[in-house]
Amino acid sequence: MPVTDPNPPVLEIRDLHKSYGALEVLKGVSIAAKKGDVVSLIGSSGSGKSTLLRCANLLEDSQQGEILFEGEPVTWRGKGPGRHPADRKQVIRIRTNLSMVFQQFNLWAHMTILQNVMEAPVTVLGEDRHEVETRARALLDKVGIGDKCDVFPAQLSGGQQQRAAIARALAMQPRALLFDEPTSALDPELEQEVVRVIKALAEEGRTMMLVTHDMRLAADVSDHVVFLHQGLIEEQGPPDQVFGAPKSERLQQFLSATVAA
Ligand SMILES: Nc1ncnc2c1ncn2[C@@H]1O[C@H](COP(=O)(O)OP(=O)(O)OP(=O)(O)O)[C@@H](O)[C@H]1O
Ligand SMILES: [Mg+2]
Repeated sequence: MPVTDPNPPVLEIRDLHKSYGALEVLKGVSIAAKKGDVVSLIGSSGSGKSTLLRCANLLEDSQQGEILFEGEPVTWRGKGPGRHPADRKQVIRIRTNLSMVFQQFNLWAHMTILQNVMEAPVTVLGEDRHEVETRARALLDKVGIGDKCDVFPAQLSGGQQQRAAIARALAMQPRALLFDEPTSALDPELEQEVVRVIKALAEEGRTMMLVTHDMRLAADVSDHVVFLHQGLIEEQGPPDQVFGAPKSERLQQFLSATVAA
């Protein structure tokens, strides 16, 4: 009998490889987030951070390596460039449990904020509309825009739109949240509104994987920080170590360039 971990990570990636044609973007990356962990991914533009998140929730195919959700490995058919997830139901289950928040919010412009938050639980999960509405209103209150239920995304500031997008991700009651540069499209004062929400989620013990250029945010919320460089993990560790005593020269250079920016 194989030994099964009674408390497996919510998300685990083992030796993941991903290419776009001839361009190898991920060259064997392993990363895990246990329940309640906040793992931040940092690194230069093009190092593969977004690709890693997109592979993790199966928005992108990967060619080699394993992805495990709560210990359950993604099943594949085919090999290498011909590899695709084999089980459509598993893909939907994993994707809805690893809810993603994007840099550009990606709200549906033709729906009100409340409709945006309710849409996927009702249509994808088939949940009761009234229950979902109660939950959606509570989540919009929680992120501080409970008074914006009936307006359209274009009527909100960027910070408000991103908070609506976070409420939408939470409405799926996911096991983990994946954030891809959630504050990068925002002016500094709007950024802080979103940072506060992310910090509150971290304090609640939410499991999160966070790609960010905001080193202060990464230092404040993370249990573990991973520095990606050209598709490989160059250095990783607790935030005190990664930010306070970086060992790799590339990480030292990256941090001094980021602080100077
Ligand atoms: N759909 C795609 N087709 C081809 N190449 C892609 C695609 N998406 C990303 N790439 C390439 O993969 C590499 C990694 O991109 P990725 O978006 O993961 O980087 P990143 O670390 O998120 O960068 P940034 O900080 O700029 O967001 C880049 O060289 C990029 O040009
Ligand atoms: Mg990116």
